[in-house]
Amino acid sequence: MIGSWNSIVKTRLNKMKFIFRIKKGKEYSLFIESEPMKFDINFTYIEINGNEMIAKGVSCLFEGKIIEVKLIFEESTFKGSIILPNLGELQLEGVKGEGNPLYEELIENIKEYRKINVQKRTDEEIKKEVEKIISKMTLNDKMGQMSQCVASVHSFGNTIQVDTPEKLVEDGKVGLILGAFDMEKVFELQTIAVEKSPFKIPLLFNADVIHGYQTIFPVPLAWSCSWNLEAIKKACAIAAKEASASGVSYNHGPMVDITRDPRWGRVVEGAGEDTYLGSRISEAQVAGFQGNDLFNKESIIACLKHFIAYGASEAGRDYNSVDISERALREFYLPPFKAGVDAGAGSVMNSFNTYNGVPIAGNKEILKDLLRDELGFEGMTISDYGSIHELVVHGVAKDDKEAVEKSVNASLDIEMVSRSYYENIPDLIKEGKIKEEQIDESVRRILIYKYKIGLMDDPFRYIRPDEALEINFSKEHLEHSRELAKKSIVLLKNNGILPLSKSQSKIAIIGPFADSKDLLGAWQFTNFATETVTIADGMKNKVTNIENIIIQKGCKVEEEFDGGIENAVKQAENAEVVILTLGEESEMSGEAASKTKIRIPDVQIKLAKAILKLGKPTVLVLTNGRPLILDWFEENMDAIVETWFLGSQAGNAIADVLFGDYNPSGKLTMSFPRTEGQIPVYYNHFKTGRPVEQRKGKYASKYLDCSNYPLYPFGYGLSYTNFEYSEITLSNKKMNARNSIEAKVTVKNIGNFAGEEIVQFYIQDLYGSVVRPVKELKGFKNILLKPNEEKEVTFWITEDDLKYHTADLEYKAEPGEFKCYIGTSSIEVKEVDFELINSF
Ligand code: BGC
Repeated sequence: MIGSWNSIVKTRLNKMKFIFRIKKGKEYSLFIESEPMKFDINFTYIEINGNEMIAKGVSCLFEGKIIEVKLIFEESTFKGSIILPNLGELQLEGVKGEGNPLYEELIENIKEYRKINVQKRTDEEIKKEVEKIISKMTLNDKMGQMSQCVASVHSFGNTIQVDTPEKLVEDGKVGLILGAFDMEKVFELQTIAVEKSPFKIPLLFNADVIHGYQTIFPVPLAWSCSWNLEAIKKACAIAAKEASASGVSYNHGPMVDITRDPRWGRVVEGAGEDTYLGSRISEAQVAGFQGNDLFNKESIIACLKHFIAYGASEAGRDYNSVDISERALREFYLPPFKAGVDAGAGSVMNSFNTYNGVPIAGNKEILKDLLRDELGFEGMTISDYGSIHELVVHGVAKDDKEAVEKSVNASLDIEMVSRSYYENIPDLIKEGKIKEEQIDESVRRILIYKYKIGLMDDPFRYIRPDEALEINFSKEHLEHSRELAKKSIVLLKNNGILPLSKSQSKIAIIGPFADSKDLLGAWQFTNFATETVTIADGMKNKVTNIENIIIQKGCKVEEEFDGGIENAVKQAENAEVVILTLGEESEMSGEAASKTKIRIPDVQIKLAKAILKLGKPTVLVLTNGRPLILDWFEENMDAIVETWFLGSQAGNAIADVLFGDYNPSGKLTMSFPRTEGQIPVYYNHFKTGRPVEQRKGKYASKYLDCSNYPLYPFGYGLSYTNFEYSEITLSNKKMNARNSIEAKVTVKNIGNFAGEEIVQFYIQDLYGSVVRPVKELKGFKNILLKPNEEKEVTFWITEDDLKYHTADLEYKAEPGEFKCYIGTSSIEVKEVDFELINSF
C-alpha cells in the first residue's frame, strides 16, 4: 500500500479527486490531497490489518469532528470510504498513481465547443432573434425558460423535484440552474441543453457570489466600513472574473437592503443603515459584477436583492412581517435599489416579507407598478427561494395555483428552484386568469439577457477551466483581498497601546479565534477555506521572533473545555501584552440567524475576566457579522479592534493594523447599541417633540435606564493619528435650484502617523412639511494625510441634496433653513446654517 493512490468521486455537490499518499518510516503515515475542495487533514490514528488501512484525523475546517478513512488495497486498485463532516460518507474506488489533474479532461473536451470571434449583437438584432424564437415556442418551452432548478439535489423548495436536473434540462423544463459548484456539471448540463433540449437554448447558471467566489473578501457589512467604492467595485470585479470562468453567469447578489436592526442576522450581507452610502455601494457592486458591458465574458449579471424592505423585518426576526409607511419605503429602503437599477443591474430578486399586507412575491404594487413602471426596470425578476408557494403559507393565496396567478400578474419572471409555475400556468391561461402575452413578456426578458451576455451565440463561454485554475485564489486577487480587509477594520478604542511593536517581547493571542480559520463569514463557498490566514499566522508573519507569540484558545465559542481558561491564563502570565480574540462564529450571522442577545457568548466573557485579572495591557480583536453590545469591553479593554469576517487574508490584514503597517481608517456603517433595548438605534432618526437634548426633567423622549445614544455611532472609527477640522466656510449662505453652495473645511493631521480620514458631509432640514431626520449623509471623501499635512475638502450643496418625499409624497426640496455638518463621524462634526430660497 505504500505510494500514491487516486480516486474520483461524485459528491452531493461536485466531482472530487482524492490522492492518498501513504509512507512508512517507523510508522505508517497518510496524507490526503483533494481537488477542487481542499481539506488539510491531520491523521493522528492509523491502523493496518493486512491490506486494509483505517485512519482517523481532524481538519481545521471541521473543529471537533473526526474524519475517517477506510482503504482496502489490491495489486493496483483500491476501494474504501471517507467520511467528511459536510459531505457525509463517500465511497471510494481508484487506482495506483497520482492520476491526471481533475479538469484536464474537461479542458480537452471543451475545446471543440470553443468559439472564436463571437460578435456582439445590437439591441435591434437581439430583439428580432428573440421574437423569432418566441413565435416558435410552445407554452411548455416558455415555462421552462421561466423555471430554475438545482444542479445536484432532487428535492428542493416546496414542490418536490422528481426529475433529475439532466432530465429537466433535456425536456426543456428549466432555463436556469442554481448552485453548480462544479465546472464539469455545468459543462454536462450545458451540453444537454444545447444538444438535446427542444429549442437548444443554453442555460444560465446562478450562484450566490456575495463577497468573493474562490478568493474571499470581507463580508459586505465589513467592506462597507471602508467607504471605499473603488476597492469594493474591484472586489466584485475579481469575484465576477473567478465565478464567470467557473460556470456562473448570473449572480444572486448584491444584497442592498438597508439594515437598522442588528438582531437580524442578514445585516452581515448589506452595507449598513445609511441610504446614501448604501446607494453608492449598490452602484459600485453592480459596476464591479457587470463591468462596462455584460457581453464581456468576465462579468456576471447582478441581481439586486431583496426587493424590498426585508431589512425592516419586525423585531429583527428573519422572514417576519414588515409594516412600514410608504414614506419610509421611499426615503430609506428604495434608493439603493434605484441606484442599482440606474447602474444597469440585469436582475432583481423579491424579498420574503409583506408590504402593505401583501408578500412581495405576489405584490403587483411593488414588482410591477414600483419596480417596472416607476423605476423603469427592464431586466429579469426572480423569486426568492420558495417565496411563490409561501404566498399560500402567508395566507394570501388558497393554493399554489392562486399563488402563481398573483406572481405572474405581478410580473415575476423566474421561479427559483420550485415548480409551481410549470405546473399551474397552463390552467391559469385556460381560465383567463393570466394571459399568454404576460408569459411572453417574461420569456422575452430572459432571452434578451441570454443574448446580451453572448450565451446564445457562445454557450460555453462561462466555462473556462484553464483560466479558472490560473486566476482562482491568485496572488493578485489575494493582495486585493488583504487591501480591502485592512480598510474594513474599525478601531473602536485605543488608549495608546496600539500599534504594537514587532520586537515586543511576548504577545499572547488568546481566545477561540486565535488560530481559527472561521474568518470568512456567511455566504461563501470557496474551495480554499483551509488556506485562510489565521490571526496567529498573520502575527507570526510579522514579528522578529515567532517564539514570542503564545497561542491559547482558552475556550470554544460557546463552551468551555477542560483546563482551557486556566491554561490560557497561565500562558498569558508570560506575555507583555494580550490579544483577546473573541466573537461570533460565521454561522451566527447571515440568513436565518436572528438573535435576541447580540453579545459575546458568556464563556468568552468568563475568559476575558480571567485574563484581565493579570493586569496586562489587553487588546480585544473582534470577529463577528453584526454590531454587538460592547459596553463592558469598552470599560475594561485597552483597545478594541472590530475586524468582522475579513476573508481569505484576514490574519494578515489584522496583523497589518495591530503592528501599525496600516493605520486603521474604517468607519462604522451601523450603530452599535449600548443594550438590545435601544434597538433600533440609528443616526438618521426623526426629530421628536420632546428631544432629550432640549427638554429637562422626566417627560422627555428618553429611557429611565439608558442613554438614547448608541455606544459607537454611525461613521465612527479611530485612527492612530488625530485629524483636526477647521470651521466650515460656505461660498454663500443662500441658495436656489440653480445656484449651489460650496462648503469647505480644512483637515489637518496633527498626530505622528500618516493616515486616511473619511470626511463626512451631512445635512439637516430644520423645518419641513413632515418631520425630518436629525441628520442625513450626503457625501464623503477619503483623504490621505501625512503628519502635519493639511488638505482642503470641498462639498457642493445642490438642490438635489435637499429633496425628500414631502407631505404629499412629492419628491422635491422645500425652501427653508438647513444645517450643513462636516466631520469625522455622525456625531463629531462642525456645523453651519444655510437657506434654500425660491430665487435670489
Ligand atoms: C436567500 C437568497 C439566496 C437564495 C439562493 C435564499 O434563501 O434569501 O438571498 O439568493 O436563498 O441561495
